[in-house]
Amino acid sequence: MCGIVGYLGPDEGRDILMNGLARLEYRGYDSAGIAMVGPDCRLQIVRSEGKLSGLQGKLKANPISGTVGVAHTRWATHGRPSEQNAHPHRCGPFALVHNGIIENYAALKEELQAEGRRFESQTDTEVIVVLLDREWRRVGDYQQAVRNTLKKLKGSYALVIVNEEEPNALVAARKESPLILGLADSSFFLASDVPAILPYTRRVVYLNDEEVIFISREGYRIESLPDGKERTPKPHLVDWNPIMAEKAGYKHFMLKEIYEQPRAVIDTFRSVVDFEAKEVRFPELNLDRALLDRIERVFLVACGTSYHAALVAKYMIEGLCRIPVEVDLASEFRSRDPILNDRVLLLVISQSGETADTRAALKEGLDKGAHCRAIVNVVGSSIARMAQGVIYTHAGPEIGVASTKAFTTQLVALYLLAIHWAAQTGKLSGESVERYIQELLELPGKMEKILSDVARIGIWAKKYKDYKDFLYLARGPLYPIALEGALKLKEISYIHAEGYAAGEMKHGPIALIDAEMPVMVLLKRGPLYEKMISNIQEVKARDGVILALIEGEPNEIVGPAENQFVVNLSSEWLSPVLFSLPLQLLAYHVAVLRGTDVDQPRNLAKSVTVE
Ligand code: F6R
Repeated sequence: MCGIVGYLGPDEGRDILMNGLARLEYRGYDSAGIAMVGPDCRLQIVRSEGKLSGLQGKLKANPISGTVGVAHTRWATHGRPSEQNAHPHRCGPFALVHNGIIENYAALKEELQAEGRRFESQTDTEVIVVLLDREWRRVGDYQQAVRNTLKKLKGSYALVIVNEEEPNALVAARKESPLILGLADSSFFLASDVPAILPYTRRVVYLNDEEVIFISREGYRIESLPDGKERTPKPHLVDWNPIMAEKAGYKHFMLKEIYEQPRAVIDTFRSVVDFEAKEVRFPELNLDRALLDRIERVFLVACGTSYHAALVAKYMIEGLCRIPVEVDLASEFRSRDPILNDRVLLLVISQSGETADTRAALKEGLDKGAHCRAIVNVVGSSIARMAQGVIYTHAGPEIGVASTKAFTTQLVALYLLAIHWAAQTGKLSGESVERYIQELLELPGKMEKILSDVARIGIWAKKYKDYKDFLYLARGPLYPIALEGALKLKEISYIHAEGYAAGEMKHGPIALIDAEMPVMVLLKRGPLYEKMISNIQEVKARDGVILALIEGEPNEIVGPAENQFVVNLSSEWLSPVLFSLPLQLLAYHVAVLRGTDVDQPRNLAKSVTVE
C-alpha cells in the first residue's frame, strides 16, 4: 500500500504533488519521491528514504519545477526501504510510480537482464519502467508501448508515468489497485486516494480494472486494455471532507482496516502462491528442504495479537506437518532461558517488526544458534533485518492501534507456511495442497460476505455495551480466537473480558457465570461441536447469557436465533480468520457506543518498542 499523485495542468506542480503526498502519508511512509518534467523538457527526480519531511528537505536544497509530474509515498513490499528502492523509478525518458504487486516480476527481470538491461533497485516496479523503455524502443510509439507493457504484467497495479520525450502527457493505468482521475478546469490530477486531490477538485472519475488513461493538455482518453474500447464515464462529485477522505469515508481507521482485510489477505497470498504450479514458495524465508528435515521442534514467539496468531499456528503446523510446536509470549521466552539449538526453528511474529520483547526473543534465538525466521508486516524493520529469513504479510500500514488486518494476514501467512512445510517434507499430497490453495482463494469472498452482513453485531453492541464483564469460550483452533476477541474488547472498549478454553470452565471460571455475564461462544462443526454444546448448557444452567458465532444453522439448544450469528462459510484451517471478523466488529461497535478513542485507546501505543 503506497500513495500516488500525478498532475498535469497550467500551474506549478511541485507543491500540488507534495501536498497530495502529505495527505496520503497515512498509506505508507518509509520513503518518498517526486519526478517532474522541467521547463527544459528534462526529467528531474528527487527521492528520499524515511518520512516525507526527508523529501521536503531535499527539495529545498534541490528545487525542481514543472507543470507535469508524479509523486509517491512508499510502504515497502519488495526491497527494503531505501532511496534506491523509492519511487519514481526511471528508465530512458520515463519515470514511473506504482502501487501493487507484480507477481511475475522475477521472470520479467530475468528476461530483461538476459537482454543486457541493468537494474538499480530490488523493486518489482523498476521492471515495469524498464519493460516500457524496451517496448518504446521496439515500437516507437508511446501509447502502444504502454499497452504492450501492461499486457505483460501479472498481478496488481496502479501506475502513473511521465515521459520527457512527451512533456505534455501523463499516462496512468490500474488493475486491482485504486486510481482516480480528478478534473478541474484545465488541470488533471491522478491519485491512489481521494484525499490527495480534495483541495483542488471534487470532480472525480474512478478508473476500472484494466483501464489505461492517456492525458494531454487538451483532454483525456480512457481505454479498456483488453479490447482497446474507449470509455466515457461521467465524473462523480465527492462530498467527503478531507478527514473523512483520509479514512476512505470510514469513521475510524480501525473500521477501515477491518474492511480492508479481504484485500490484505489477497496481497499476502498472491506474493507467495504460484497458482499455475499449485505451489507455495517463500523466496525470502531461506528455509530449504535439507533444513526442514533437520528441524525437530518449532518455537513460535510473539506478543499480544501476534501471539494469538502463533497459538492458532500451533494447531496448523502440528496438524499438517506433524512436528512439535511450542508457543511463547516473547516477554516470558526471553527471560526463561529456553533450550535452543540448531535443531530448533524459532519463528517470531510481529506486525511492526519493532516490538522490544519480540526483538529480544529473536536475539536470544540467534545467540543460542537456533534457526531464526520472522513473519513481519513492515519491510526493513529491525526484526526483518535481524532474522535469517522473512515472510512478509502484505497488510499495508496499520494505523489503528488495535491490530486487525495484521492479525488475519498473519494467520494466512502461517497457514501457507504450514502447507509449504508439509508439502516439502512429504506430509501433504499435491492434491491436498491444491485443495488448501483453493480454500485460500475462496477466503476473501467469504470474508466479504461476513463483513457485508453484520447488522446483528451492531444490535448486540447496543444491547450489551454496558455490561462490565464478558467471557469468550471456544475449543481447538478457535480457542485463540476467543482470546483475541476478548483482547479486542478489553483494549478498545475498556470492558473486562476473558477468553477461555471451554474445557477449562469446570476447573474454576464457571463460578463467575450469572445473568450479568454475557458469554460469547465460538462453535464450529466437527468433533468439538458437541462438547461446546455441553459447555453452553452449563452456562445456561447458571443463567448466563449466550451469544454465539456458529457455523451452520442456528441451534435451538444454544438459545434464541437472535443471539446467534451464523458464520456459514467456514473451512478447515481458515475458520479462525472468518470467526475473527465479527469479534473485531463487536469490539469496535461497543467501543464507539461507549465513546472511547477507538484508534488510539488509552495507555497504548502502536508498537511497544521500549525494553
Ligand atoms: C492488540 C495489539 C497488540 C500487538 C502487540 C504486538 O490489538 O495490537 O497486542 O499485537 O503489541 O505488536 P507487534 O505485532 O507489532 O509485535
